[in-house]
Amino acid sequence: MEVFERTADLRGYLAPVRAQGRRIGFVPTMGFLHAGHLALMRAARSDGADCVVASIFVNPLQFGPREDYRDYPRDLDKDKELCMQAGVDALFVPPVEEMYPRGFATHVEVTGITDVLCGRSRPGHFKGVATVVVKLFNIARPDCAYFGLKDAQQVAVIQRMTEDLNLPVEVKVHPTVREKDGLAVSSRNIYLSPQERQAAAVVYRTLERTAEAVKKGERHAERLKKLLEDGIRSEQLSRLDYAEVVSWPDLRLLAQIGPGRTLLAVAAYFGTARLIDNIIVDVGVE
Ligand code: PAF
Repeated sequence: MEVFERTADLRGYLAPVRAQGRRIGFVPTMGFLHAGHLALMRAARSDGADCVVASIFVNPLQFGPREDYRDYPRDLDKDKELCMQAGVDALFVPPVEEMYPRGFATHVEVTGITDVLCGRSRPGHFKGVATVVVKLFNIARPDCAYFGLKDAQQVAVIQRMTEDLNLPVEVKVHPTVREKDGLAVSSRNIYLSPQERQAAAVVYRTLERTAEAVKKGERHAERLKKLLEDGIRSEQLSRLDYAEVVSWPDLRLLAQIGPGRTLLAVAAYFGTARLIDNIIVDVGVE
């Protein structure tokens, strides 16, 4: 596996790959890799990528001033080892000044769908995500890029941006990877104490119960939202950030759900860890 810190060096490596007509699969990450990231890397390979590129960059632009940018977990040596095991061909680990040199002044903003959910709780977050992802796409120029559905709003934002800006990248979405008790794997799970870790299982349990209510015929968005809120609040160690019921993938607030896909989404704190998770339910024409 080759490791690059500079854009020019990664480009130099990828130019002949592209010239030979070989397909490039790309997995952007912020590192502290877990089973979810590794599943994306394997998906890139099994999807037919001839060259799998991953990036590790803790993007300061997507963190708010009181968020965990400085404390975000990092372990580059272990990440390199995991990337190698997952069959990554090239790893891009740019320093901050390589991505945002002095004078950097351009941002990408996707409007509308970023006014809800995490976009509302974390102002500026998706502007940071969209900006870094478009930069990474321009640097690696992949055929396909892989994202996990745990960050459903991020997926919706990246899909919208890719379509709106005619970026020549196919955005591929991978299901959320979960622990045995349903907790979505996340780099931030490392912040959980053993008690908080146990308590955090309430997130997926609540989402599943709410999805079950949809299966049984509940269509009223406010009642579904209340089920989500009550479920999370039933766990003493949780502090609810939001519970929302919105259309998927355009993230419109709804009165009634269906026909079509609906995102049940939750964000909650357990200690200092802010965890997010979701389930997409599909209601047919009734
Ligand atoms: O999902 C993440 O890890 C990040 O938001 C991403 C897409 C790598 C952009 O920094």
